[in-house]
Amino acid sequence: MSAPLSKHEMKLGTPIPDMGEGPISVEPYVSPEFFQQEKQKIFRNAWIEVCRDDMIPNPGDYQICPMEVWDSELIVVRGKDNQVRAFHNICPHRGMKVVRLDHDESSNFQCGHASVLICPFHGWGYNLDGSLRPVMGEEYFDKIDRDQVGLLPVTLDIWNGFVFVHYQKEPPQPLREFLGALADDMEEYPFDSFTHIARYSAQAKCNWKASMDAFHEAYHAATLHGGSIPEAARLPEGSVPTSARIYGPHHSLSMWASPDFRPSPAAVAAWKYGQSFSAGGEMKLPGANPGNDDNWWFDINVFFPNFFCDTGPGWYFTYNFRPISESETVWVMDIFQKKAETCSQRIAQEHTKVMLRDIVYEDLSTLEQTQTMLSSGLLKTLNISSSLEVAVRHLHATACEWVAEQEPA
Ligand code: FES
Ligand SMILES: [Fe+2]
Repeated sequence: MSAPLSKHEMKLGTPIPDMGEGPISVEPYVSPEFFQQEKQKIFRNAWIEVCRDDMIPNPGDYQICPMEVWDSELIVVRGKDNQVRAFHNICPHRGMKVVRLDHDESSNFQCGHASVLICPFHGWGYNLDGSLRPVMGEEYFDKIDRDQVGLLPVTLDIWNGFVFVHYQKEPPQPLREFLGALADDMEEYPFDSFTHIARYSAQAKCNWKASMDAFHEAYHAATLHGGSIPEAARLPEGSVPTSARIYGPHHSLSMWASPDFRPSPAAVAAWKYGQSFSAGGEMKLPGANPGNDDNWWFDINVFFPNFFCDTGPGWYFTYNFRPISESETVWVMDIFQKKAETCSQRIAQEHTKVMLRDIVYEDLSTLEQTQTMLSSGLLKTLNISSSLEVAVRHLHATACEWVAEQEPA
């Protein structure tokens, strides 16, 4: 008789809808036609997270947010009235990007500050609310209708500091309704008491769903992360979430941390005065561990279609998966930790940064090799567990459902 895999049960915090049984189809991970449908029916019908509003804290601060899946790029800017707005980064004169920034390798952010936005081609200028300013040589133009000619606005709303945009002028659901009960469960998490400590990003030749799948199951942890995560969490038991919840198109999992956890000497040093990313933690925060699970480590919260917000005891991190094509995705990770007030807490932040870096390197290392082989046509289906990989099945089922049922926008 083989030993049982888990010393704990995976609880279900919500009813699990019917998502089919057995193997799942490979086609949604490799088909260009399926991806074209996803662009129209998923990414133009769902709210998409693009940044945090505290990354643009002052009037005139803006961030450039690539939105390849809309064939666009957005300017998210805080106006003089303190309101955050989004516009497509296109000049209505002749189509140039109004804001062009060189990629900043050091920070990996595309941020800036301006009191007006000036197109670099012929100098048309825009106020921070998108309205057109006086145009040089305007007398040489036929009448420019200022009600019609300005930056193209994008529907935007904010939840708990997270800026979401929607392709449609009048979205089918308001943001908060779309985020639903997952946002209810996370509502009280003190996001605004955290500070951004690191960003990592990568562009991988891998489908966006296959990329996400590498990050919302723990089954791989004992094998793939054999060398990087805390010893206790990489026991086979660590492959079993303590609980799982499905909320419409969204889902969340809670990760298990062994009570026998013995941190490394570096983790002990980092832990002494500050929380770092290690198994387990004393800090209890509202809006996390919704199942009140024993030996809770952190929650993996996934807002459909492509945004993760993983909340832990004293740190959280986000992933955005930006689809480029059926076989290419940009992955961006932002890490946040409680603001450091002492040198020791600063060291804890550094520990979190490097520990997560090493772990995500391992996750990322699987993406392109998986996609290459999925694209070979050798497999028509994948053999997944309905419990350990419930999030994989749910994302697959939800994408298929939206492609089948949503209207293209
Ligand atoms: S394209 Fe922007 S001013 Fe001409
Ligand atoms: Fe992982």
